[in-house]
Amino acid sequence: MSLDAVLQTLDDTQDAAIERLFELLRIPSVSTDPAHKEDSLRAAHWVAATLRELGAEADVRPTPGQPMVVGHAPGDASKPHLLFYGHYDVQPVDPLSLWKRDPFDPAVEDTANGKVIRARGANDDKGQFMTFLEACRAWKAVHGALPCRLSFFFEGEEESGSPSLVPFMQDNAAELTADIALISDTSMFDANTPAITTMLRGLLGEELTITGPSRDLHSGSYGGAVMNPARMLARIIAGLHDETGRITVPGFYDGVDDLSDALRGQWDALGFDADAFLGEVGLSQPAGETGRTALEMVWARPTCEVNGIWSGYTGDGFKTVLPSTASAKISFRLVGAQDPVAIRKAFRSYVQQSLPPDCTVSFKDHGCSGASVMSTENPLFEKARLALSDEWPHPAAFIGAGGSIPIAGHFKEILGMDAMLVGFGQDDDGLHSPNEKYDLRSFQKGARSWARILDALSG
Ligand code: BES
Ligand code: ZN
Repeated sequence: MSLDAVLQTLDDTQDAAIERLFELLRIPSVSTDPAHKEDSLRAAHWVAATLRELGAEADVRPTPGQPMVVGHAPGDASKPHLLFYGHYDVQPVDPLSLWKRDPFDPAVEDTANGKVIRARGANDDKGQFMTFLEACRAWKAVHGALPCRLSFFFEGEEESGSPSLVPFMQDNAAELTADIALISDTSMFDANTPAITTMLRGLLGEELTITGPSRDLHSGSYGGAVMNPARMLARIIAGLHDETGRITVPGFYDGVDDLSDALRGQWDALGFDADAFLGEVGLSQPAGETGRTALEMVWARPTCEVNGIWSGYTGDGFKTVLPSTASAKISFRLVGAQDPVAIRKAFRSYVQQSLPPDCTVSFKDHGCSGASVMSTENPLFEKARLALSDEWPHPAAFIGAGGSIPIAGHFKEILGMDAMLVGFGQDDDGLHSPNEKYDLRSFQKGARSWARILDALSG
């Protein structure tokens, strides 16, 4: 049977597949850092060249930010036209001192839980999207062509808020529209249970700087008599949550619905192990809204988190300074119909109203996107679910995810197409952290899973 031949080819060519992934992982395509602009371009060209090897026409398209890569491979018009999306950019590596090896010198390591690929981007998203491209490569090797008409779309600024994405999708709408979008940038439910992610949270990024005195001051000469902006910032941040963990910004919960009984029942049946989830990061107590389960809080509740905070002297030793400014980067994860624009406005006015005389505040907008819920009505979802279930010990689950992939919503809003999210990450992969990894098993069974899905969707 032809699928078996493709699976066999994947098994027979594992070493070469790892070497191809390593080539890509060696390119430090950190989108948020202008120092890596050339590297992003190199990664884009690497992806385009790979798509050509798969039989696609592909090119690198400039944008005001990092380039897009678009490719098309012809196929049978009677079968679904699939569009695969991935992002070739990665998060910054800092703090570099916490990495056990050079983040851009990938290696396969033996760990207590099996072999892992270690590098920045090993999972997010290079390792993940290479599972799809390797499935295509094996398919082409066996059949001489891809199983159906396939388009490819890669961006290089997903990790920095995708500023060029919406205009690019609008300008190239006809070219980017297919029957369904496939994305590999999410996790499995657990190591043995594959998943199709049907809910993603939205994201709103804000940076604020509070200014008090016109320059840094001697904290003895002035301390007590003048306002310290670091204290003010701490008070404002502390006021963002009440004692039950609810966010206090007026109107914040507009558009947030309680979980339906049906969905709560489905999620309860998954048997999520909250103790293990917290234990793996050295914690034992859920710390969110009172009375909600950890799974519900991550998949279905909005949040407000401080992602960075700085003021005064933070170097070695000690300096008695009363700082002139204090800053923080704050993000909100959004669910349901929460309106990011309204929340940004409400947050800014909450901060303004909390400021004492003599303090001023400035804000920087770090982008926003609403939450997205994928419809699973499209029959291709059930085909993919069954195909995944054939590869893994447990049947595939429909799950939520706490992270954000703005394009998932844009596919529907801008192009009118469904997006199906199938990824093979694990909770302990260390996304956005030092020592990011991807289980070798995720990479290899991920590619086999995509071969099965391609077979099912094109069959
Ligand atoms: N792959 C992640 C999103 C993700 C992580 C989904 C884990 C499901 C499980 C994605 O690359 C990411 O990190 N997105 C950013 C988006 C942001 C910078 C606009 C995020 O969620 O913080
Ligand atoms: Zn990602």
